[in-house]
Amino acid sequence: MMKTFEPIEIGGLHLKNRVGVAPMCTYLCEKKDGVANDFHFTHYTNLALGQPGLIIQEATAVNEFGYISDHCLGIFNPRQKEALTHLVSLVHRYDTKIGIQLAHAGNKSKRSHTPVYGPMDETNVIGMSHADIDKFVQDFANAAKAARACGYDFVEIHGAHGYLINQFLTPLVNQRSDEYGQDRTLFLKRVVQAVVKAFEGPVFIRLSGDEYDPTGNSVEDIQKIGELCLNLGVCLLNISSGGLRNIPVVKPLYQVHLATQMKQALTDLKTSS
Ligand SMILES: Cc1cc2nc3c(=O)[nH]c(=O)nc-3n(C[C@H](O)[C@H](O)[C@H](O)COP(=O)(O)O)c2cc1C
Repeated sequence: MMKTFEPIEIGGLHLKNRVGVAPMCTYLCEKKDGVANDFHFTHYTNLALGQPGLIIQEATAVNEFGYISDHCLGIFNPRQKEALTHLVSLVHRYDTKIGIQLAHAGNKSKRSHTPVYGPMDETNVIGMSHADIDKFVQDFANAAKAARACGYDFVEIHGAHGYLINQFLTPLVNQRSDEYGQDRTLFLKRVVQAVVKAFEGPVFIRLSGDEYDPTGNSVEDIQKIGELCLNLGVCLLNISSGGLRNIPVVKPLYQVHLATQMKQALTDLKTSS
């Protein structure tokens, strides 16, 4: 039976229906300052008018090195937070829940004139030191705290699409010899724990359910990562795919089987324990 228009509760979040707007970068901070502007206010108001149960705001950088492009949003300075507070209030006028996707592009950042950080030293990429890792984890926590202050109903950690968290998770990028390489989930665990603690509300995570590369994480590896996230207090796994190497054939519903498999694997685990 179709339940699309029935309410649902996820991690204490009451949704009036099950329609969700996926996070989609709009690349429209023309001033390259990461501050939401009239475009964003209109765009997200317009989405809210469509009456979805929830909107996941586009990938928003947790620090100055985390932007995907020059024109992405940020949530780490006062002007950015002030504009986002206004954006949230506009969406709430139409009785729609909104969360923010907290993101760090890592070695995929295309920001001009800004150093690029990733798990490994590469051409034009600074391999992150332990001090950098501690700082970036703190930046995720600060962003989660800011999201709470801005009024967001939930946050989503961007752990997919080959961005920083995904870079730490995958053997395709992370070949560190320290503890962050021996346990490739360590960076993710620290970020999730910090965000769950700082936000004090529903935390989602987006994961790539398939890396489309036989030398990357297997679908089973990613299911274990999903389980880990739930054990750390995440209440929703938003399953996407790819972002690192090969591009799959994109067609309607091409990723749905990955979410179905994740759900089944975690349900089986629950019933067997
Ligand atoms: C222009 C554009 C921007 C996107 N930006 C983001 C983003 O900020 N964060 C994210 O997790 N996914 C992003 N995505 C992926 C979408 O959320 C979505 O997963 C993808 O379009 C596949 O849609 P489907 O799951 O309905 O098939 C973007 C996609 C597009 C087309």
